[in-house]
Amino acid sequence: MKRVVILASGSGSNAENIFSYFKGSDTVEVVAVLTNKKTAKVLDRCEKLGIPAYFFNREAFSGPSGFVEIMKSFRPDLIVLAGFLWKISSSLINAFPNKIINIHPALLPKYGGKGMYGSKVHEAVKENSEAETGITIHYVNENYDEGAIIFQAKTAINTSDTADDIAQKVHQLEYEHFPKVIEKLLT
Ligand code: GRF
Repeated sequence: MKRVVILASGSGSNAENIFSYFKGSDTVEVVAVLTNKKTAKVLDRCEKLGIPAYFFNREAFSGPSGFVEIMKSFRPDLIVLAGFLWKISSSLINAFPNKIINIHPALLPKYGGKGMYGSKVHEAVKENSEAETGITIHYVNENYDEGAIIFQAKTAINTSDTADDIAQKVHQLEYEHFPKVIEKLLT
């Protein structure tokens, strides 16, 4: 059984979708969701679904106690960032080479980098009157949103679409593709 650990700090709708996709699978299992936000909605979802969820603070993440060791204790085959904003350390990247992936709600390299997350991305896309947007699933390296791209999918934007409409379209793409890409990487 391949083991997936999800890092999420927001609503967690992707975490839920990934968990549901693999529920009952005999090849891939979501073994834990880790979050740096005690109030994150993802924790409510985990409780409801029975997913083991753990909170960690900045010290556990960045301090000398070693987040690498914490992560190793879960024996992940893949670490999935789904709405996680803290920068991933070189030590974690080196401990799990090609095993950490992120999803970004735009077509990288456009609309990426520090500060480009959540609704800010969709507002910028709208502001620039883009004709299309999409999702990017990529390996995580030391720079925000710059690791090698694994998969992209696009969706068209109508001139009447609001930033919220764009967000919804992007979320649909995320739900459709993210679990399948994870499955492909692991099986
Ligand atoms: C997603 O749009 C993802 O692309 C981005 O953060 C958002 C997380 O949404 N990295 P949710 O918490 O899974 O609902």
